[in-house]
Amino acid sequence: QAAEKSGYEHFMIKEIHEQPKAVRDTINAYVKDGQIDLSETGLTDDFLKSLDQLYIVACGSAYHVGVAARYVIEDLTSIHIEVDLASEFRYRNLKLRDHSLVIIISQSGETADSLAALRLAKDKGVPTLAIVNVIGSTIAREADHVMYTLAGPEIAVATTKAYSTQLIATYLFAVEAARARGEITQEKADEMVTEMQTLPEKIERVLNDKDRIQWFAAKFANAKDMFFIGRGLDYAISLEGSLKMKEISYIHSEAYAAGELKHGTISLIEKGTLVVGVMTQSKLFEKTRSNMVEVGSRGGYLMGLTTYGNYSIEDTVNFTVYVPKTDEHFMTSLAVIPLQLLGYYVSCAKGLDVDKPRNLAKSVTVE
Ligand code: G6P
Repeated sequence: QAAEKSGYEHFMIKEIHEQPKAVRDTINAYVKDGQIDLSETGLTDDFLKSLDQLYIVACGSAYHVGVAARYVIEDLTSIHIEVDLASEFRYRNLKLRDHSLVIIISQSGETADSLAALRLAKDKGVPTLAIVNVIGSTIAREADHVMYTLAGPEIAVATTKAYSTQLIATYLFAVEAARARGEITQEKADEMVTEMQTLPEKIERVLNDKDRIQWFAAKFANAKDMFFIGRGLDYAISLEGSLKMKEISYIHSEAYAAGELKHGTISLIEKGTLVVGVMTQSKLFEKTRSNMVEVGSRGGYLMGLTTYGNYSIEDTVNFTVYVPKTDEHFMTSLAVIPLQLLGYYVSCAKGLDVDKPRNLAKSVTVE
């Protein structure tokens, strides 16, 4: 196994570094001559045009991709969207509407609850699309339509590159659906694809900052609690950042929609509690910044995660991580990288088994 780590200390950090390639490969699989081509999946323009409702269903980090995808698809199209955890979706007495599509997102394609949700949708006669990494997996075989992510094999239990490629699959779906439905022009779609193609290089630039994050992470190895806050897409990013932290560092961590803080969580802020504020969405920047001020005045230690150019944040927070600008719909792809690194380096600083955290499995085939 040491050889397979190609000189890296853990699979997780190796896979974090494989993200530019995984993202590029996934884009290249579905972009021909600068335009999105989903013909391989069997999703036609007519079908995308007819859609009225999407249900995105998944577990764990794949569910967090769904939460991010909801904001993106909702912003670009007029399709109604519900996102649910597979373990909840399958037990609801949900009335699946006509002109619907159920999208199941799964790295392994074997997660028991996600598979059960897929089968439920099929039983109710609703078309299904699986966004899956493992070729020939059960979910891939049973779904009506399949979009493969090209992350390659992922070994570390905590997902990084599969998550990043799932995001790309949802962007491709969103842009293509919006174009097919006439909700964005072909020119706008082409422009968004061109921007998507810059993501691998921008992820690379974020990775170049890893030493600063390692230095910062080492200071929090003994933390008791951490919080990740954001609004809109920044909330979706917070969910994943918080999960990465808790699953491999065993530090209690929660993600909160920034506006909800004052409804309970703020009582947990003590002197020195790390609060990570994700502020990549320009319309929401000031709102979340003011929540950071509130948390700071109660003693929280503040890390701000935002884009280059928002330098005024340094007046509010103790430590800032900047990521390059991109189309704001794609920000999750860049902002998640420092959060993966943060979780990874805190786990390393604690000397934990990063690749195989206690009690967790890579693929959960029990309900
Ligand atoms: C496990 C893994 C997570 C993953 C989740 C869903 O909990 O540790 O990383 O997000 O299962 O797995 P799937 O294979 O369906 O994406």
